[in-house]
Amino acid sequence: MTSLTLPPLRAAAGSVRLPGSKSISNRMLLLAALAEGTTEIRDLLDSDDTRVMLTALQGVGVGATPIGGTAWRIEGCGGVFPVKDADLFMGNAGTAIRPLTAALALSGGHYRLSGVPRMHERPIGDLVDGLLQIGADVRYTGNPGFPPLAIHPASIKLAGPIRLRGDVSSQFLTALLMALPLTEAEAVIEMTTELISRPYVEITLNLMARFGVRVEREGWQRFTIAACQRYRSPGVLHVEGDASAASYFLAAGAIGGGPVRVEGVGRNSIQGDVRFADALQKMGARIEWGEQFIEASAPLSGRLKAFDLDLNQIPDAAMTLAVAALFADGRCILRNIASWRVKETDRIAAMATELRKLGAIVEEGPDFLAVTCPRSGIPGTQSGAAPTLVPNAAIDTYDDHRIAMCFSLAALGGVPVTINDPQCVNKTFPDYFDALAEITAPVIAIDGPSASGKGTVAERVAAALGYHYLDSGSLYRLAALAATRAAVSLDDEAGVAVLAASLPAIFEGGRILLAGDDVTDAIRSEEVSAGASKVAALPAVRAALLARQRAYRRFPGLVADGRDMGSVVFPAAMAKVFLTASAQVRAERRYKQLIAKGMPANMHALLQELQERDARDAQRSVAPLRQCDDADLVDTTPMNIEAAVEAVMTIVKRQRL
Ligand code: DC
Repeated sequence: MTSLTLPPLRAAAGSVRLPGSKSISNRMLLLAALAEGTTEIRDLLDSDDTRVMLTALQGVGVGATPIGGTAWRIEGCGGVFPVKDADLFMGNAGTAIRPLTAALALSGGHYRLSGVPRMHERPIGDLVDGLLQIGADVRYTGNPGFPPLAIHPASIKLAGPIRLRGDVSSQFLTALLMALPLTEAEAVIEMTTELISRPYVEITLNLMARFGVRVEREGWQRFTIAACQRYRSPGVLHVEGDASAASYFLAAGAIGGGPVRVEGVGRNSIQGDVRFADALQKMGARIEWGEQFIEASAPLSGRLKAFDLDLNQIPDAAMTLAVAALFADGRCILRNIASWRVKETDRIAAMATELRKLGAIVEEGPDFLAVTCPRSGIPGTQSGAAPTLVPNAAIDTYDDHRIAMCFSLAALGGVPVTINDPQCVNKTFPDYFDALAEITAPVIAIDGPSASGKGTVAERVAAALGYHYLDSGSLYRLAALAATRAAVSLDDEAGVAVLAASLPAIFEGGRILLAGDDVTDAIRSEEVSAGASKVAALPAVRAALLARQRAYRRFPGLVADGRDMGSVVFPAAMAKVFLTASAQVRAERRYKQLIAKGMPANMHALLQELQERDARDAQRSVAPLRQCDDADLVDTTPMNIEAAVEAVMTIVKRQRL
């Protein structure tokens, strides 16, 4: 078993670009496959569950080809799958097996669908009952009511309405709705129970409409698909960011200060889970909505309020609320969540067990959960009184991506938290922990002028703490060298920015490679130093390097050195240090370094060059070199390296308390 131990996290701020929505990705893939014409789907989620769907579609003869980045081209088969006999593996993807079962049952072939053992415990009987009513031949080859299934050709007859239960999973209705237009007859579905998770059915109806099929809906009771409607490709489609995945980051903003912005969903989203932001708002969080973003910050009072909510409409995002409840000021009740019991695992039981490991008092019912977290009453975290979480809890994840993701937020309670089998996030969000690190991992920013010793100090501090290290100056040096090699003038702002945005640079065991060429020493030459200082004054170059620098922020933490680490790149850094020394002493250090390397050096020229570079770095219009108001000054003029490291470690230890 692998595990990931998250360090105690103090704060969350920044922005995250969301991966594509799983619900939308898998629906679009199937609709594009069933349609007439070719569909280009952009921003498709790349994860286990979408790969299951893509592989299955390819398995029944649908042309599905990646066309660069996260875009795919799907050749629609007009409702007739070319391959008539296939074994299809569905993993644990409910959004794949349910709609595919319905579509395959109406398409006149022999298909066998199976999945991982947990998939064989997840119900599908209500859907199969619905399909049997119209003459489909679907058989259980394991336990009745559950996959695996065998499907055979049958003559489909749509006489009266199909009567369907909607209280176990809304995916059964979604599956029938998506498949029924294949019959080209009028089809009516009548719900025999209340329908849960309705927002997911709205996604289905919305996407079917984009492919040209309209469904008449009478409340949530009766759905009619008029005869002779066929799916037609709308051409190019774009997948929204995943609103369920957004919940983790929004909650992080509400718990850890914020603001945290998620990019890729906004006020016009078709996903019900964006309503999670309303639930956070009820807890007192501050929420801002944009066209393409949602942003969350902690309440002004600093304290998240307890809640009692019916969460039937947002079952997935609701799990995040169960962990946010640890940070609330009282007993929180999550109601009407019975569907949790038949998801990737029995989520009610699993959440109760794991929340208790963190010290919460949890009451568990057939369809509810109540969570109370003991509090110290001592103001500690950004949300006011700190919850007293049990440190070093080892959270089991039950092969359930959402358990891994939501429990990572417990580390914002200032305790280390271990997530067992963290790779289960691959189901919907393979880069989850990197994205979380980009808004929460502790950063120590060390800025200062050239040759102040900050590089050596930063590297040693990183080693002492076991943190990652970013030498941001090397990126400007690489940009200058790449420009010179490509014969791009260092004054050509746009030209250098393009090169900087996609530097083919690799940092490997102390060596730096540029397009495979070892340039570790070359980028330290006086010529490249001067060039770096020039390109660093170009706003477009700085902008082009911003995301790359921020991506170095990983668990357990980062030490970053440069000129604007504390002011621009990591403004919310845990500790900020301004490391400097007199120009004379810095020139002497550089002189000794060059001589030691057997390189030519002239003390007078070095001093002059250093002063010119200082002036250029300090006077440029963007991100000029200066000490931030909230940075601690360390003047290393009288210090050796050990003393400088010691001085920085003292500052860091003070911040970590
Ligand atoms: O730290 P260094 O000497 O390797 O930096 C090389 C040049 O890049 C220097 O002129 C300043 C510039 N730089 C910058 O503007 N911002 C940073 N974060 C790092 C370096």
